[in-house]
Amino acid sequence: MTATAPIRVAVTGAAGQIGYATLFRLASGEIFGAHRPVILHLIEVPPVMAALDGIQMELDDCAFPTLAGVKKFDSDHLEDAFRDVNFVILVGSVPRKQGMERADLIRINGPIFTSTGKAIQAAAAKDVRIVVVGNPCNTNCLIAMSHAPDVPRDRWFAMTRLDQNRAVAQLAQKSGRPTASISNVAIWGNHSATQYPDFVNAKIDGKPATSVITDHAWLKGDFITTVQQRGAAVIKARGASSAASAANAALDTVKSVIRPTAAGDCFSAAVWSDGNHYGIEAGLVTGFPLTSDGTNWRVAPGFQVDDFSKSQIDKTIAELKQERDTVRDLLP
Ligand code: LMR
Repeated sequence: MTATAPIRVAVTGAAGQIGYATLFRLASGEIFGAHRPVILHLIEVPPVMAALDGIQMELDDCAFPTLAGVKKFDSDHLEDAFRDVNFVILVGSVPRKQGMERADLIRINGPIFTSTGKAIQAAAAKDVRIVVVGNPCNTNCLIAMSHAPDVPRDRWFAMTRLDQNRAVAQLAQKSGRPTASISNVAIWGNHSATQYPDFVNAKIDGKPATSVITDHAWLKGDFITTVQQRGAAVIKARGASSAASAANAALDTVKSVIRPTAAGDCFSAAVWSDGNHYGIEAGLVTGFPLTSDGTNWRVAPGFQVDDFSKSQIDKTIAELKQERDTVRDLLP
């Protein structure tokens, strides 16, 4: 791709609430820059295709200078939908309702990601990168990537950025500092109620969060549970799962991958564990602290994992192993 070649971005579940909140920002130049044309591939299940016509009209009506095309595909034709795409945002899935845990979705949504992985491998551009949003996103990502063995594993991300952003907001509110003062917030493990939002390595105005927030009982207690339970709290209050904040986090993930990470900071995403980092076993898609140079990312080194953190990480890794075992028949 040259600097001015259009970037093709596919979004599944494009007419759903998260998809809808994602498309306009992708088209606007905010994510890939004011000089990078964007071609959107909108993907939906056949009964919802008509809604895409309305979204296309609205995209037209924004007259974004960066929007170079809109294509619509139904999910029965995934290879056409993913043809030559450079980024894929996998939103399409059955969302969680009140009273469900994300793991309850595993047998419902898992199979979708088998065909998705195969189609991405068959049709996407050689530089494709994929962000999985549909829940349970870590295990859905594991399923999809397992069916796309020719797509390098470092191209796959499952979204823990929403948890990172939630953790940043909580730390900002507790410390009375703006969100811009909070950095180095890692989310370990699963995007679920077992995740570990890491306050030990978090910084506020460059200082350890634990030295700025002296209420350590809050950090070890309410802070963690608030972040872990935030998705359920939103479902309860809104009657529907988070949409705008989830879309925002998906876009933050893309931005963090394609832009250099500030010195001393990290971003959170779940990636394939190769077994070489922080004692986490290979073969799971798990949240890590990451840094990017704008092209390549790596697991951030030097994070302190004390006994408390280790016990939290062990719990969420155990859940990921359980999820993997539940979908063994979907893994080749
Ligand atoms: C969230 O964290 O808000 C989303 O993953 C939706 C959910 O089911 O919690």
